Formats: sequence, C-alpha cells, structure tokens
Amino acid sequence: MNSPRELTPLFNPKSIAVVGASADPAKVSSRPLKFLLEHGYQGRIYPINPKATEIMGLKCYPSLGAVPEEIDLVSIIVPAQAVVGALEDCAAKGVKAVSIITSGFAELGPQGRALQERIREIARQHNIALSGPNSVGMHNFKTKAIASISQLFERKDLLVGPIAFISQSGAFGTAICALAQAEKIGFTYFVSSGNEADLELADYIDYVVDDPEIKVISGYVEGIKDGSKFMAAADRALEAGKPIIMVKVGRFGAGARAASSHTGSMAGSDQVYGTAFKQTGVIRAFDVQELLDYSSIFALGQARRGENAAIISTSGGAGVLMADKCEELGLTVKELGESTKAELLKILPAFSAVGNPVDVTGQFLSMPGAIKGCIEILDRDEQVDVIILFLALVWSQWEQIANDISNAARNTGKPVVVCWVGAPQGALDILRANGVVNYPEPVRCVKAVHALLSYGRMREHIIEGRLTSAVSLEPKGKEGPETLSAAEIDRIKARLSDIRRAGRTMLTEKESKDILQAYGIPVTREKLARDADQAVALAEEIGWPVAMKVSSPDIPHKTEAKAIALNLTGPDQVRVAFDKIWQNAWSYNKEAVIDGVLVQEMLKPGTEVIVGMSKDAQFGPVLMFGLGGVLVEIMRDVSLRVCPISSFDAETMINEIKGAKLLQGFRGAAPADLDSIKEILLRLSRLALDLQDYVSEIDINPLVVYEKGHGAKAGDALISLL
Ligand code: COA
Repeated sequence: MNSPRELTPLFNPKSIAVVGASADPAKVSSRPLKFLLEHGYQGRIYPINPKATEIMGLKCYPSLGAVPEEIDLVSIIVPAQAVVGALEDCAAKGVKAVSIITSGFAELGPQGRALQERIREIARQHNIALSGPNSVGMHNFKTKAIASISQLFERKDLLVGPIAFISQSGAFGTAICALAQAEKIGFTYFVSSGNEADLELADYIDYVVDDPEIKVISGYVEGIKDGSKFMAAADRALEAGKPIIMVKVGRFGAGARAASSHTGSMAGSDQVYGTAFKQTGVIRAFDVQELLDYSSIFALGQARRGENAAIISTSGGAGVLMADKCEELGLTVKELGESTKAELLKILPAFSAVGNPVDVTGQFLSMPGAIKGCIEILDRDEQVDVIILFLALVWSQWEQIANDISNAARNTGKPVVVCWVGAPQGALDILRANGVVNYPEPVRCVKAVHALLSYGRMREHIIEGRLTSAVSLEPKGKEGPETLSAAEIDRIKARLSDIRRAGRTMLTEKESKDILQAYGIPVTREKLARDADQAVALAEEIGWPVAMKVSSPDIPHKTEAKAIALNLTGPDQVRVAFDKIWQNAWSYNKEAVIDGVLVQEMLKPGTEVIVGMSKDAQFGPVLMFGLGGVLVEIMRDVSLRVCPISSFDAETMINEIKGAKLLQGFRGAAPADLDSIKEILLRLSRLALDLQDYVSEIDINPLVVYEKGHGAKAGDALISLL
C-alpha cells in the first residue's frame, strides 16, 4: 500500500514556513522558528506574520502568497479560528505538506469536529499531506527540520538513531523522546500525529518503511482509525523486516474513555488490537520501558533467529534469575554440549559452572580474556542462538573488559546482549560505540532478547504461513464452490437487503444456514414443515432421529421459548412435538410470524466448538473460535483473527486456545478433524468479507466436530444484519 500523498516534504523538507511565527519569546508560537535557527536547519525558513517584517533576524512575510519561492512544509501555529484561512493559503500556494500544531478541533466535541472536517476536506481537495491538528509537530532529528513546539529542542545535543517514532500523544511522545535520550537511544523522526484529521498512523508507517535509514518503527497508540490500512502498512514493514513496536493504551474502561476524548478517536476493542498486532508481527510493548528496550535492541539490526539462549554470568544468582525469565517467556536455556563444556573448562577455573548458565565466578577478573573466550566458544556452538552476558560493577579493568566484549561481539554471527549492572560510564560508552546493546537490569535484558528472537520467529511463520495459504485454499469440491460467482454473491446480498427492508435484523436458523451452505460450510440436513404430516414425511426423508425447532424471524432464542425438541425417533413423537413447538412459540410471542417448524438431522455427538464473526468498528470482520459450553462462557477461552485470515491464521487460532488439547486427542481420545475446522474458518472469513456491508454478527454454535477425517457440521447458526 502506498500513501496517495507524497510525504517526503513532510519528513524531509527543503524549506519550512511557519504561519503564526511570533517574535514574542513568551509565546508558544515563537518556538518553531527559534528551534530551527538554534539547531542549524540548513533549508530555507520563512516566518509568516502580517504584523512583522523581521523575526529573529529572518525576513518575515505578511502571507504565504508573498513568499517568492516554493515551500515544502508549512507549520501552522495560529489560533484555531485562523487555521482554515491559513490552510486555504497553503492550497493557493501549492504547498504539499502541512503540520498543524493548533488545538481546538475534534477533541473539543461537535463544533471542533466540524472544523476538523473542514480542514480535512481542504487537504484532500488540494492533495495536501496534512499532519495534526492538535499536535506537537514533526521533527527530523537528522536534518534538524523541527516544525515543533516541544521543549525537547531546548537541548542541542540530541542523539540521532535509526528509529522512527510516531505518537498519538504529543506531550507524552516528546517525554518518551526525552527518556530515550537519557538512555542514549536516538531517533531519526518523531511525528506527533495529533487528531489525525488527514494523515494517520498507517500513512506515517508506510512512508518510513521505505526509508533505508530506518530500522525500527516505534509508536504510542490510543486508537487506530482504519484497521485494514494499518494492517496493510504493518504488513509492508514485516516484509521489509522492520519491526514495529507499539505501546497501545486504552486497554481498560477508564483508559479507553480517556483515549477517545484525547484525540477524538474511538479506542476500540483492545483484544482485537492485540489480534491485529499478532497477525502482522507488531510487537506490543506494555510500558514505555519495554518500548525503549525493544527499540534499542532492534536498532542494532542484529540477526534474529532461534530460541536457544546461552547465559554467561559473573554471578550465579543473576544467572538463575535470567534463566528463569528466559524459560518463562518461552526461550530455552539448554545444557551445553560436552565439547563446549570441555572448551570452557580449558579457560575457566575448575570450580566454574559450565552447564548453562555459565558462571565464570569472581575469578574472571584475574583471568584476562576469559569473557571474550567464553563468547567465542559459545559462538562456535551451533545449539546457541543468542549469547547473554551478565556483569556486575567491575570498577577496575572495565576498559579492557568492555573492549574485549566489543571485539568478541563484532566477530560473532549471533546477537551478544549485555546486562552490566552498575557499569562505569566509560564501559557503557565503549559498548555503545561498538554497537553492543546493554541493559542495566537482568529481567529487562531477557525480555528484550525474547522480543528480538520471537520477532524473527513470528516473521518467518507469518510470511511462510501466507505463502502456503494459497495451496490450502484449493477447492475441495465436495463441500461446495470455493468462491461464489459475483452473481451468486449479488443474489445473497439482494436477499439480505429484502430482509433488512422488511425491518428484520436477524435471520432465522434456516436462512442463516442457507448462506453458510452457499459458502461451503457444512450444515445439518433440514427442511421446513408447515404441518405435522409434512414434518413426519420430512423426518422419514432426512432419517431418524431428528430434531425440531420453530422457524420464526421473531424468535431467535428457541430454547428460551421452549420451541425445540431433540432426539425424536418416530412419527408419533414428531406429531406431538410439532403441536407443542407451535403452541409454545405462539404463547412466547403472540405477534411472532411463524414460518413453520424446522425438521433437522439430529447430529451424532462430537466435540462442540463455537465459530463466530463480529464486525469491529476499526478492523472490520473479526473471526472468533472457541470450545463450546462453559469454557467459552466462563473462561473466555477464545481466539480471534481479523479477516481475511490465511490458513496459517486458521491453524494458530485453533491451537492457541487453552482447550486446544481437547481437540488434539487428549488422554487417548481420537484427535478431532482440525482440517475441517480450519477450512470452515477460511470459508467464514470469505463470507464475512463478501457480506461485510450487510452482516454484523455470525454465530455458529455448536459446530460439532468429528474425528479426524469425518468432518464437522453446523448444528445451529444465527446471522445478524447491520
Ligand atoms: N497568519 C499569520 N500570523 C497570524 C495569523 C495568520 N492568519 N493569525 C494570527 N497570527 C499571529 C498572531 O498575530 C501572533 O503573532 P504575534 O505574537 O506577532 O502577535 C501569532 O500568530 C500567534 O497567535 P496568537 O494569537 O498570539 O496565539 P498563541 O501563540 O497564543 O497561540 C497556538 C497559538 C496555536 C499555540 C494556540 O492557539 C494553541 O492551539 N495552543 C495549543 C497548542 C498545543 O498544545 N498543541 C497540541 C500539543 S499536544
């Protein structure tokens, strides 16, 4: 996906005009100009203010139209009521990128929302890439293009690094920039995306993915406007191998409410965000420390493979703590092989532990080269994927040791990640200068290593999974057509429109199952009977035993209406059931239109699962899978995926529920037909996308799954319309 607007003038402007630049140092509107000058921005700078002829030694223009040259980026910092006029001036001047700092838009409610809508219209109409409003602005740390009011730029010694940081909070975003600086982590870009009237998170990601200098994309997110656009941008980043690390807030009620009012956007379901991130390989950080820790390890562009960690420690205790954390997170800390152990014992004292963690003991200080030697030995061990090194203090000989680590790390093909607690500043400077990442605390170090390795695995699986999807979507023939023709889809849509026009939002079970069947999802054999004789005839045709259920658009909950009978084995039972169902339905809802009684094949027992779909405001159709009964209701043991899903998604969504073991053949039971579930999920994903403008929810409950090779069938189904 490429953004329709060219964002280079926004991220890398050759000239910047500041509309509303003030000479008054007490005003916020004086800052962009001051920062551009103080940081030595090399492009052309144009202050725009009708009240002045010169500001901070620069010629000041009364309007944008008075500037004789073209302008790449305009920073607007005038009061809200003057913003529309200023933006119209940008359009008249042919400006292609604008960053609006001014507050007073959608975050204020309906009136502000109307103003925001107006600026969005102008931007779209004139093909202007519009950032903000209600933002701190944009910074390019490298070129010093600072269209920003952040006080961060009162400091002149800001570090630059291969990270693009996009934040939906301006003030907090710059606070994170300041924290990053304190931890010696540099960014190339910082975007405060503000209310996202026009450009949104996905547009910024889409641009920085193609920047060869950017290795990591980090973000602070409150709510994503267009979920599928975000996923498409995240996909491009995944393909390019540029990790996206996001703190997504608004996870619980109060936070979500605050996020909605902060930028005037909807926060959406946090679980769906988690799912969308998982599907596109986005690494979720749960606090700012994680965001920075993960960003810094990826910024080094280290190799990311495997899951086996080797730990070298100068402290037995720290080694144990780190090994525990590794295993808790799913990394392995395997006992080292005999030859590696023997090699280690050649350079370490006999009382050292060499199993893994390798405890070099306090003795290492009197053994020059021991640490370097350990790294080299572990580098040669094919079982080891990452080397974690723990050191504490080392307030003498630190220079030699920091240089040794740097030299060894430079020559290994594996990531060497250091946790040096209480390190002398000089040692840290040496490690940093040599591109060795260091954490001051063991658990932070292990979490970062875990993020590094799991991203590599995730990326491989997702990309490979997608490649194999095409193969597993091959038509099966027997369950129905793989894709419906446009005419068939139109026929279904027309039928749904008719139902909607009749004032109904829920389909009957029969209507729902007809649509599922059209998409090749196996359903029970069933037919509608208008009287008891017909019901008996249908039961004979379907085969005994049968189930019978009322078919009424006005009675979606048939059990509640006692309008259902199961396991009927003969004509007499069918006749009695027919009358009873009709009577109960009628007394449950006297206004109900009753189409008849559904005579249905009684499904043989199998494992009951639930498959569903609901439409998320941000991400569109989302599939749900879970085991039936109490596990779903009490444990909420379900997995979700945003549509469309790949065959890999279907497989992982089945396997990631806690009760998956019950389907895989628990305690000698035969494994369930997982391939059938997978195929039904894929077909439902297609249905959900085809009919996304019509259907709000689908509930297949139960889907009865049989032994491997024996398929699955929808026992009951309910489709709700938008
Ligand atoms: N063209 C050019 N200059 C204009 C103008 C126009 N159409 N309209 C006004 N100006 C000038 C003003 O005369 C003033 O210059 P002066 O000092 O020489 O008189 C300058 O623009 C600024 O206007 P002013 O009315 O003094 O506003 P301000 O500086 O007090 O505040 C904002 C302006 C944009 C900073 C303020 O409205 C605002 O939105 N603040 C919040 C910003 C924020 O927090 N953003 C979100 C961060 S997360």
